[in-house]
Amino acid sequence: MEFTKNTLRDIVDSAIRRYGIKDFATATIREIVGVAAEAEKESGVEFIKLEMGVPGLPPAEPGIRAQIKAIEDGIPQLYPVITGAPILKSEASRFVKAFIGVDIAPEGCIPVCGSMQGTYASFVTASQANGGKILFIDPGFPVQKMQCRVMGVDYETFDIYDYRGEKLHAKLESYLKTGEIAAIIYSNPNNPSWVCLTEDELRTIGTLAKQYDVVVLEDLAYFAMDFRKDLSTPFQPPYQPTVARYCDKYVLLISGSKAFSYAGERIAVACISDKLFHCEYPALTERYGNGEFGAVYAHRVLYTLSSGTSHSAQYAMAAMMKAASDGEYDFRSEVAEYGRRAGKLKEIFLRHGFNLVYDKDMGEPLADGFYFTITYPGKTGAELARDLLYLGISTLPLDTTGSHQQGLRICTSFIKDHQIAALDERLREI
Ligand SMILES: Cc1ncc(COP(=O)(O)O)c(C=O)c1O
Repeated sequence: MEFTKNTLRDIVDSAIRRYGIKDFATATIREIVGVAAEAEKESGVEFIKLEMGVPGLPPAEPGIRAQIKAIEDGIPQLYPVITGAPILKSEASRFVKAFIGVDIAPEGCIPVCGSMQGTYASFVTASQANGGKILFIDPGFPVQKMQCRVMGVDYETFDIYDYRGEKLHAKLESYLKTGEIAAIIYSNPNNPSWVCLTEDELRTIGTLAKQYDVVVLEDLAYFAMDFRKDLSTPFQPPYQPTVARYCDKYVLLISGSKAFSYAGERIAVACISDKLFHCEYPALTERYGNGEFGAVYAHRVLYTLSSGTSHSAQYAMAAMMKAASDGEYDFRSEVAEYGRRAGKLKEIFLRHGFNLVYDKDMGEPLADGFYFTITYPGKTGAELARDLLYLGISTLPLDTTGSHQQGLRICTSFIKDHQIAALDERLREI
């Protein structure tokens, strides 16, 4: 290594102290990114950044062209309609049909400033409608729990690790039968574990949600990225697996950030099922006058959050969805690069004595994708994350994701080709 281990250790330790991080298990991702950036600057050592889920690919070309044109046409002058530009609503509905194989009317396809805002609005609306808590099928995206804390909504959580397959039914029902759950949320593929729920598991979630009249929030931030299957041919199976086949009150959150590498423009579409969109909730009527879920979602919640979504980004999203549905833009083959990187990185970590934490979907090895999870014998996730920082490798401990396993999340998006050999070399010192 081109630096001395002890010097880097001292630099990392002092950066950790400056950030006031007492326990690495509770450090936020931004804090870890900050420590790595400071240590990198001070030591001159290039850090291998495996912590933050930033898209590492260029933004989708059809989006850029459409957004530039929309700007040149004067779109920025106009406030966007809260429920979305008609072109995006109809393309989103068509995209859902093309790649998920379900029908959602354009009316229910509402642009949001990233899925992040989509979940915020969904938590508010669902918890006010049903007067209950949010149930997280974990591990998950830590910020979503912070959203609940910010808005003062209670939540429950369990780690899916021990409840795959048939075990999921009883576990899920134990929460739903309390009558306290307003909505269930999970991501599929899952951030951080890259677990992909099977069709049977989605049926269990959908059937129970219907039985207990609970809203399902399906976070598809990593849309079609289960690379074991080719989900890229529009209007032809196999489709992106979804709970939408098993229940009728759901919101599918489709983000432009990862599928189209469009994270900076903060654009996603919350696709609200027809039934849920028109469902009247007495608690919403009492609070807002109009009790329809879809109307409250758009005209009360989104209106007060941001008065709609960036106008030109909506045109970008519409164009990317259209090009994909027309079969002219194969977004999946672009992002398949993450799967290739995951294959290489997993091989290196496993060769150096690490193990995978979440490793199988009901007996089938997990797909290689945007994330994977690793552990090292005898070390907690927090200890491991710190030890790797001393080697110039930054990662995220699983603790803040709601996982009960000790380990780290590795994100494949940001590593550069020349860093793969460096990773191999640095890991010899673990
Ligand atoms: C599971 C999950 N949901 C939502 C998001 C946020 O997506 P967006 O950029 O559309 O707000 C992310 C981003 O990392 C994520 O991992």
